[in-house]
Amino acid sequence: MDTRSEDARLPYFEDHSPGSGTLPARAWYAASDAARLSLDGTWQFRLADTAEGTGTGFVADDADLAGWSEVAVPGHWVLQGHGAPAYTNVQYPFPVDPPRVPTENPTGDHRRVFDLPPDWPADGETVLRFEGVESCARVWLNGRELGTFMGSRLPHEFAVGHLLRPAGNVLAVRVHQWSAGSYLEDQDMWWLPGIFREVGLHHRPEHAPVDFFVHAGYDHTTGRGTLRVDSAPQGRVTVPELGLDLETGEEASVPVEPWTAETPRLYDGVLATAGERIPLRIGFRTVGVRDGVFRANGRRVLFRGVNRHEFHPESGRAVDVETMRQDILLMKRHNINAVRTSHYPPHPAFLDLCDELGLWVIDECDLETHGFSFFPEWRGNPVTDERFTPALVDRARRMVERDKNHPSVVIWSLGNESGGGPGLGAMARWIRDRDPSRPLHYENDSTYPDSDFYSRMYASHAEVELIGRREEEPLADPDLDAHRRSLPFLLCEYAHAMGNGPGGLSEYQRLFETYERLQGGFVWEWIDHGLPKRTPDGRTYFAYGGDFGEEVHDGNFVCDGLLFPDRTPSPGLLEYKKVIEPVRITGDAGRGTVTVRNGHDFADLSHLAFEWVFETDGERLGGGRLDVPPLAPGESADIALPPAPATGGGAEGESVWTVRAVLAGDTAWAAAGHVVAWGQIAASGHRRREAPSPAAAVAGRRADGTITLGPAEFDAATGALTRLGGLVPVSAPRLDVWRAPTDNDLGASWHEEARYGMRWRELGLHRVRHRLDGVSLEGGTLTVRTRVAPAATDAGLRTEYRWSATGDELWLNVAVTAEGDWPCPLPRLGLRLGLPAAFGRAAWFGGGPGEAYPDTRAAAALGRWELPVDALQTPYVRPQENGARADVRWAELRTADGSGLRMTAGSAPFWFTARRWTSEQLDAASHTTDLVPGDAVWVNLDHGQQGIGSQSCGPGPLPQYLLAAGAAEFSLSFREVAPESSAG
Ligand code: GAL
Repeated sequence: MDTRSEDARLPYFEDHSPGSGTLPARAWYAASDAARLSLDGTWQFRLADTAEGTGTGFVADDADLAGWSEVAVPGHWVLQGHGAPAYTNVQYPFPVDPPRVPTENPTGDHRRVFDLPPDWPADGETVLRFEGVESCARVWLNGRELGTFMGSRLPHEFAVGHLLRPAGNVLAVRVHQWSAGSYLEDQDMWWLPGIFREVGLHHRPEHAPVDFFVHAGYDHTTGRGTLRVDSAPQGRVTVPELGLDLETGEEASVPVEPWTAETPRLYDGVLATAGERIPLRIGFRTVGVRDGVFRANGRRVLFRGVNRHEFHPESGRAVDVETMRQDILLMKRHNINAVRTSHYPPHPAFLDLCDELGLWVIDECDLETHGFSFFPEWRGNPVTDERFTPALVDRARRMVERDKNHPSVVIWSLGNESGGGPGLGAMARWIRDRDPSRPLHYENDSTYPDSDFYSRMYASHAEVELIGRREEEPLADPDLDAHRRSLPFLLCEYAHAMGNGPGGLSEYQRLFETYERLQGGFVWEWIDHGLPKRTPDGRTYFAYGGDFGEEVHDGNFVCDGLLFPDRTPSPGLLEYKKVIEPVRITGDAGRGTVTVRNGHDFADLSHLAFEWVFETDGERLGGGRLDVPPLAPGESADIALPPAPATGGGAEGESVWTVRAVLAGDTAWAAAGHVVAWGQIAASGHRRREAPSPAAAVAGRRADGTITLGPAEFDAATGALTRLGGLVPVSAPRLDVWRAPTDNDLGASWHEEARYGMRWRELGLHRVRHRLDGVSLEGGTLTVRTRVAPAATDAGLRTEYRWSATGDELWLNVAVTAEGDWPCPLPRLGLRLGLPAAFGRAAWFGGGPGEAYPDTRAAAALGRWELPVDALQTPYVRPQENGARADVRWAELRTADGSGLRMTAGSAPFWFTARRWTSEQLDAASHTTDLVPGDAVWVNLDHGQQGIGSQSCGPGPLPQYLLAAGAAEFSLSFREVAPESSAG
């Protein structure tokens, strides 16, 4: 029983205030000539179940550490064998009663004994700096308490010079998983307590800057940069390359090359005071909103962005610099130019890398109170409780002071999904006063009192278009409406990249490129936060919410990124790269021209080289360089293609030009030859092939319960294909409409209308029956009539298969008619067949090399591709439909000796999928290791697929991508292929 009297003072970890004893926030910089001592490494560690259950005896020099273990710092103890991670999205995983937290409050006591280096300076001050601790810490040095702090993803410093001794310093840190600060940190991610960023001593020499602020603007009308560095105490600033040698506080203007994300020009400088020399990397740029448009250096910027959480599958939010660099290289290589640091300031080194490699950054404060949205009018929301305001402003201050000197940071964001309230206003006022040079962003208050952007999440294409035209639904209050209407528009989140998808990217991009007000968006999100686990037999998979015994969790909603947890790009990232490519390549083979448009905001095309390739039926017949002038941003030009290479008499073939824009030389983020953009121009269209006319078809024969048609044999009773030449299928081709619902198919609870996956299952599309209505042989045509339908409904698909053959080719024509009431579109419409497991090598001519669906097909290039069946699979963390290849003209599956089956499109190209398990098995799996290869390769040849959409959080597929159940007819042929003769 709690014996505490009602009005007793709550402990520090349940205090509304941000803590006590810390120093004022200041700018971060990687290094200077002032000494530093890293305290990272192995710390002694003990986990307690409650906040104060084990007393504070451990802070003493001679504490008894029996029973203690160790953890790595930086790190999270829950990822090091102590306790477990837990995932929730919106809901708080504890009873909501701010600022109180549960008595069960996992508390990690950390201890580190260290010596000072012998040459540690005696003058000045030394500060103890924590870059990030989740969620609340109490700190002692040599037995003396320094103070407490909250604000997990923000730095906190204490003055400790007077307490240090040359050797045997005892640093003790008590970390509580839950605190009043947890109410401000309800981000959609794992709850991961611990000292997860660096800890160190920083010497602050006498006369070293207490803080400094680099102001480096650029005037695009004059081409001059303006530099002023404020510092206390004063000092000098030198920038040798610009011949600058200034007093701090003094302003100078010189011609410079500006910094942009496309051209991240930095100038090395030094800030020197009597006490310290601090290297500066100065980027000159001016940003702001003018005439309703966000501009950098006078020009409109189009954000091709992503939301980035800090995540590493082994170490959680303790992310090393190499991983940060890898993230940025991957972004740059996929044409991404902007990051929203969802939903907290990242490790500061990440921003250094953004300065260096070039990304626009929305730096977001460590704030989210989303869990209060479950209560009427967000009752109890901390941003409406003035007792929390000092903590909110403290967070804003710590972010801005830490990150203010980064040219890449162009927008401050107050936080995420915290409703509206005066606490946000207080943060905004503080930021505007301290740094008027950057606009503010905040999405979650529909009147945008504290935002320079009209910002939304997951708005539909139609709504975004209205906003682009400035014709959005007005707010009730005309003044508020006028304010919002004056703002530039951002989709701070869109295109929910959960599982297979997101669909509809191309259509968003078209809007962004059409309407000036629409300044792009930030895909949700960069990486799946899957944590590795092992099956009892030692196979590794990525786990998600609920896999760690959480009572309350949000499942695999934590896996919604463009990268898999191991940072392998997903098909969604490849699609995004193509959709946002900053050069558009289109053309007209008839006119013999290719049109190149420079879609960069700042860079001309001089960094790119252009290459062409001409292919017929996927065979390269010629290639070379194309001279494209260094077009300025926004310019386009028609360039003559060379004469088409001779097709070697193959006038029958399908020919295509592919033109690629590649890096002409090495850059900091990719090597010469890296493909930035490409386009294909059809030189001759796809040719339909038709099933043979009755006169051309070979006659069929009936004997001994079989029907023979050219190379094929059928069961005369069922009409099922039993043999093609020497090939005996495991399962004969028949109609298939089921797919293992994707996360987007299943949809979010708030998208009732678009939860197609649920409706498919309710209707029973995973358990349709095939009723045989008749088998007839007439001349050369075998007709099999069926009705395909699930139980308990009159909705069904009357399906007629018409088989015929010529020589070694077996033709199938399928005609489908929908009957009854279909309450929903179909997942897919096509054929499924089973081949022996040995048919493990796939080749096809069509879209590739990667997966594609109707609204995710921009990145599929027409070509001839080859992959093992195993490599056709996309390992979504929660298994679901994947791996379709679009626009396939023909596909082959072969065994190791090269014998196999060729499937050729007739009336129209098909979608080709092959896997070692059935759709039903895929559907039943919850982790990748649940999928075990069986004794067949299951092949789907689809006439239609439903689009993917984004309704695991956002809108569903656009109407044109819904696969309505109606009448459909398609044809294709099968031919056995002989073993490959060895090439000698
Ligand atoms: C947004 C939120 C993100 C994430 C996303 C869904 O509402 O800001 O943090 O939860 O939805 O994945």
